[in-house]
Amino acid sequence: RIAGPCVLVIFGVTGDLSTKKLMPAVYDLANRGLLPPGFALVGFARRDWEHEDFAKIVHDAVKQHARTPFREEVWRQLSEGIRFVSGQIGDGDSIRRLRDTIAELDEARGTGGNHAFYLSIPPGLFQTVVDQLREYGLAEQRYGQWSRVVIEKPFGHDLTSARELNRVVSSVFPSSSVFRIDHYLGKETVQNMMALRFANQLFEPVWNNNYVDHVQITMAEDIGIGGRAGYFDGIGIARDVIQNHLLQLLALTAMEEPTSFEAAQLRAEKQKVLAAARPAERMDLHTARGRYAGGWQGGVKVASYLEEKGIPRTSTTETFAAIRVDIDNRRWAGVPFYLRTGKRLARRVTEIALGFKRAPHLPFSSTDTAELGYNALVLRIQPDEGVTLRFGAKVPGTQMEIREVNMDFAYGGSFTESSPEAYERLILDVLLGDPPLFPQHEEVELSWQILDPVLDYWASLDEAPESYEPGGWGPACANEMLARDGHVWRRP
Ligand code: BG6
Repeated sequence: RIAGPCVLVIFGVTGDLSTKKLMPAVYDLANRGLLPPGFALVGFARRDWEHEDFAKIVHDAVKQHARTPFREEVWRQLSEGIRFVSGQIGDGDSIRRLRDTIAELDEARGTGGNHAFYLSIPPGLFQTVVDQLREYGLAEQRYGQWSRVVIEKPFGHDLTSARELNRVVSSVFPSSSVFRIDHYLGKETVQNMMALRFANQLFEPVWNNNYVDHVQITMAEDIGIGGRAGYFDGIGIARDVIQNHLLQLLALTAMEEPTSFEAAQLRAEKQKVLAAARPAERMDLHTARGRYAGGWQGGVKVASYLEEKGIPRTSTTETFAAIRVDIDNRRWAGVPFYLRTGKRLARRVTEIALGFKRAPHLPFSSTDTAELGYNALVLRIQPDEGVTLRFGAKVPGTQMEIREVNMDFAYGGSFTESSPEAYERLILDVLLGDPPLFPQHEEVELSWQILDPVLDYWASLDEAPESYEPGGWGPACANEMLARDGHVWRRP
């Protein structure tokens, strides 16, 4: 489906997200023919730029980060609708200039008065922006037109602040006009979880506590915090990705089949399972935190977290977190879900691994099966997208020796179609007003309810997280946490 004519306004357009993800995604959509000729893009930021300066920034960002090839005619058409408004958030003159620019574009591009406001700014500024949008008539839902607001995680710092943030935004925009971005939901492989589970007969019968022993959800990154000290040190990795990406992956793994993929049905199932999920009771035994030390990673010398620019020496922020979540319902009772994430780990990889129970009886000698682990189904979210089924097979030869093997589905080997970038899909859905891939406030609240007790427990310890070597798989306490339950972390 192709978006209708509209204006997309990005607040905070000088940030990294904007140059690396949003601008390239807009171009890729245009290049794929999914934006109409009437589309317009407005950047709003403090810089003293003219329209042409901003268009040049977009041009460079597109050349550097877009997925699709650069085509002069696509760029020409897109750039005709690019404008920049130099201004301060909270300043009346600035927002008036923005309003006038939008009005000019409505006229010149025939946008039909449809506007999306992307708040790529710290949540502390949301109130001022949405109040101003209302004051200047930009948030009005006029008949036959739309005005939408897009917000990025973190959706608050804990349950209380998330509620406050929601109150602020929903005091101006109706919930159907609020689009919360969790970019993991825009990933092709995450959407494939629905297809894998509900389009096949093969998996669902074993997708429960009769067969599944435990689940491991891993999101590992090899990078450090980069230039994001200010953002990261205030929140830590659990708030940065467990509260949103990993709990969304858990919800999609564990939820019941929705009656349809309409937003309301999908959300109902996700909310039901999140409401049944809770951190394991003994947090001293079932959570782990870490912080990366300095050292060598892939032949490069890297700084420790505390040596990163902008990090206070007294910081106790975690860069690795692992938690166990239990789900109190018939399908999952007794099946621990282990979630782990960290910076400066061995490699960048996100996967969901269902570990199955062992066969109730093995008619082999113990030496025959010495190399047999548990059967596993691994959904490889990124970067090597696909699905792996791991099971035991006889090693060729005269002995009955059983070893684990993999059966693999790889996107590259099966499809010639390329995957759109997550932000492409999500921006298009905002412009189309298509809500299934956007979490609603209720899901955000439920996720904080799961994570808040863990964060409170860690805060009560008042100590620095355990140190771990860069390029490994995190602190020793994470391995101990799983060992207590008789498990080991997978090495993806
Ligand atoms: C973001 C986090 O949401 O996701 C970052 O704030 C993290 O800390 C990023 O690096 C990872 O995204 P992806 O798509 O590269 O896995």
